[in-house]
Amino acid sequence: MNILGIETTCDETSAAIVGANEDGAPVLRANEVLSQIAEHAAYGGVVPEIAARAHVEVLDRLIERALAKAGMRLADLDGIAVAAGPGLIGGVLVGLVTAKTLALVGRKPLIAVNHLEAHALTARLTDGLSFPYLLLLASGGHTQLVAVKGVGQYVRLGGTIDDAIGEAFDKVAKLLGLGYPGGPEVERMAESGDPERFALPRPMLGRREADFSLSGLKTALRVEAERIAPLAERDVADLCAGFQAAITDVVVDRARVALRSFADVAGHPTALVAAGGVAANGPIRRALAALAGEAGLAFVAPPLDLCGDNGAMIAWAGLERLRLGLVDDLTVPARARWPFAERPGAAAVTG
Ligand code: KG4
Ligand code: ZN
Repeated sequence: MNILGIETTCDETSAAIVGANEDGAPVLRANEVLSQIAEHAAYGGVVPEIAARAHVEVLDRLIERALAKAGMRLADLDGIAVAAGPGLIGGVLVGLVTAKTLALVGRKPLIAVNHLEAHALTARLTDGLSFPYLLLLASGGHTQLVAVKGVGQYVRLGGTIDDAIGEAFDKVAKLLGLGYPGGPEVERMAESGDPERFALPRPMLGRREADFSLSGLKTALRVEAERIAPLAERDVADLCAGFQAAITDVVVDRARVALRSFADVAGHPTALVAAGGVAANGPIRRALAALAGEAGLAFVAPPLDLCGDNGAMIAWAGLERLRLGLVDDLTVPARARWPFAERPGAAAVTG
């Protein structure tokens, strides 16, 4: 079985082909990713109109390249999977219309994948993980702790009540005059800084619900930065180090709380998994690995090229859904918003 996966929900355009061998184990045949970071950098964030246009310009070529790398033609595929949301609607439409066209012309099943579900299932592509597991999904637009019980079965144990973690990194970077995206820049600057020079808060620490709140931390950092302005390079490094340390503490504390409530909704987890762009962050990865170790769990984080947005995760989620007969027809809509996990007690989202 071989599936084409198309990703255009934000600022990466990607086409990938993922197959499964006779035992059902995944085979990553091609994963072509083109980042638009350069196009958006001047604006300090993603500009939706520019993103949609950039997807149109390169998607066809990326699909051709992915097919060539896999040594396949459209006729060899078993299905076309596409991220149908959540995301910037113009970009989502570009991917979805392309996927529908290929599915129609090639007479292939269409699988409309939730982008967040694809992040959630990536650990099964990379590590063959079994259900259930605890997932920290942290990207520029999302921050959630989710019990992943099966394909289409996701229970939300916590989430952010204001900024997403990646968004907080991006805003701090902007405030300190660092580049976009902010996560890698703040992480790099933090390495040479003193994490204790500024006493930054750890919002929600110790709370019994696994929710996040990051705007207070961001504001505290801004107040400190304004107090000592103009900022020398050392000041920026120390502020980054303080922020990185605070956010790492918060993430570990929230994940610990989610682990505690996991058994009530899903039994014993097989692992703690980190996914989304923020899962590329070294200190957060190391701290989560230590937490998993304490709890006697494996820690799984996808390799860096599969942490950020990519077509391989869409293809894999499509393959998992197709195996269960979960396909879509050509009327499936593009969705700017599309929650994928429900609070405990609510009905699971399957379609
Ligand atoms: O999943 P992703 O590629 O795109 C979506 O938002 O869907 O995540 C991008 C986010 C950005 O906010 C970026 O700053 C953050 O992930 N990020 C990081 C790191 N690398 C990317 N945050 C912290 N540390 C990093 N090393
Ligand atoms: Zn993403």
